[in-house]
Amino acid sequence: MEHVEKIIDEKIQGKALVTENKKENTKKLFIESYGCQMNMNDSEIVAAILDKQGYNTTQVLEEADLVLVNTCSIREKAETTVRKRLQKYNAVKQVNKKMKVGVLGCMAERLKEKFLEEEKIVDLVVGPDAYKDLPNLLEEVNEGKDAVNVILSKEETYGDIAPVRLNSNGVSAFVSITRGCDNMCTFCVVPFTRGRERSRDPKSILEEIRQMVAKNYKEITLLGQNVDSFLWYGGGLKKDFNKASEMAQATAVDFAQLLDMCATEFPKTRFRFSTSNPQDMSLDVIHTMAKHKNICKYIHLPVQSGSNAMLKAMNRQHTREEYMELVDTIFKIIPEMALSQDMIVGFCGETEQDHKDTLELMEYVKYDFGFMFAYSERPGTLAGKKMEDDVPADVKKRRLTEVIDLQQKHALYRTKQHLGKTEEVLIEGTSKKNSNQWKGRNTQNTVIVFPKEHYKLGDFVNVKVEDCTSATLIGTAVGYSDNN
Ligand code: SAH
Ligand code: F3S
Repeated sequence: MEHVEKIIDEKIQGKALVTENKKENTKKLFIESYGCQMNMNDSEIVAAILDKQGYNTTQVLEEADLVLVNTCSIREKAETTVRKRLQKYNAVKQVNKKMKVGVLGCMAERLKEKFLEEEKIVDLVVGPDAYKDLPNLLEEVNEGKDAVNVILSKEETYGDIAPVRLNSNGVSAFVSITRGCDNMCTFCVVPFTRGRERSRDPKSILEEIRQMVAKNYKEITLLGQNVDSFLWYGGGLKKDFNKASEMAQATAVDFAQLLDMCATEFPKTRFRFSTSNPQDMSLDVIHTMAKHKNICKYIHLPVQSGSNAMLKAMNRQHTREEYMELVDTIFKIIPEMALSQDMIVGFCGETEQDHKDTLELMEYVKYDFGFMFAYSERPGTLAGKKMEDDVPADVKKRRLTEVIDLQQKHALYRTKQHLGKTEEVLIEGTSKKNSNQWKGRNTQNTVIVFPKEHYKLGDFVNVKVEDCTSATLIGTAVGYSDNN
């Protein structure tokens, strides 16, 4: 339980993001990122844009010329956390008077100009599609004006910007492939804050990966709100695909094809992807995963609820039965697959029976990992406008505990299945608990720790699993894998 809560907290924790400094850069940028991996990757794009404007990153808030916070709106708690951070910046600004403060990301998009009124400390408000305008906006700010750009775009994918890697381990990195989301789940603010869905040119995706591989990166996670819905037909919104020319439609690249292109061109690089909405997951994707050893056998497949009534109210485009069928198909094609969930408890109208359906579905799948949340009403969403947030807080809390406890049981069931096996692990860093041990992950995304011996960061090593907790495998390396 403690462990799962920690994961949830880590998901919304912000931290100062830094990279190597350049001598010619004279200004100091303190940048923090809250929320999803997409935000983290966006912060890397922002750092790349500001690098060209003469900014180095710093970990010391007090010495920053510019403080940027990349924000998350997904739940109320994420927004409260950011507001608290702004108070901290405010205290620092009393001493460092020339410090400028900017808000990026989903909260910027949601609150727009209102942010400037509500939080006096804020000088700059920039939505997720407007980062290329930062140099102009900063000029305005430096002239003493407030600056806002929250325009959402039909085309912007930042495909032409090579992100500056922040807090990187030099081994694994994220590459964005889609932006926005068209799914309109009734509880979710993302379609409003990140706009309509669009895909990035596969050429620029492959070029970015080429550069990463040249720098010795070993694992790439392809990112999007809804990666399985990836569709490149020459640019433009996903929803306008039907209006494209016959030629453009015939030569379009979908997610399975993109995965195949990546895995084929870089056979020694591991590929992961996130997030997969079950309704967009195709058989082709699963077959492509089966075909390539270097596509990791792990799918984050959020279901949100195990109840058909809830799925319908949430506007998820599949039933509980269809989801179970998908899970069956996945295990049939790739028996060693690991699956994880996102679950929302206490959504509008959720009955005790709906909740039991969720627990039962979890029992059926036995997920390896999970991210579980109590429903948090978001202004502007369909649920926020039309449905009553009627499950009392204490009931939400109790249901959440039940879901988390069950997930922990399943996580242990899954980690135990690795005992005695020898698995390929990519070394990603030193174990937090023991500096004599490496930490890495197997193909299923399960963390493994083992004695360092002569192995190095970035090595692919075969590790024999000897013990486990519900979150971690413990083992000993038996040699290099043939992937080095
Ligand atoms: N694109 C992903 C979800 C992105 S948001 C998908 O396909 O499902 C990440 C997770 O936050 C969601 O899966 C959901 O479980 C949770 N979430 C989103 N809105 C929420 C809300 N209003 N209250 C509680 N949890 C929420
Ligand atoms: Fe949100 Fe549903 Fe898209 S959860 S990000 S609207 S798939």
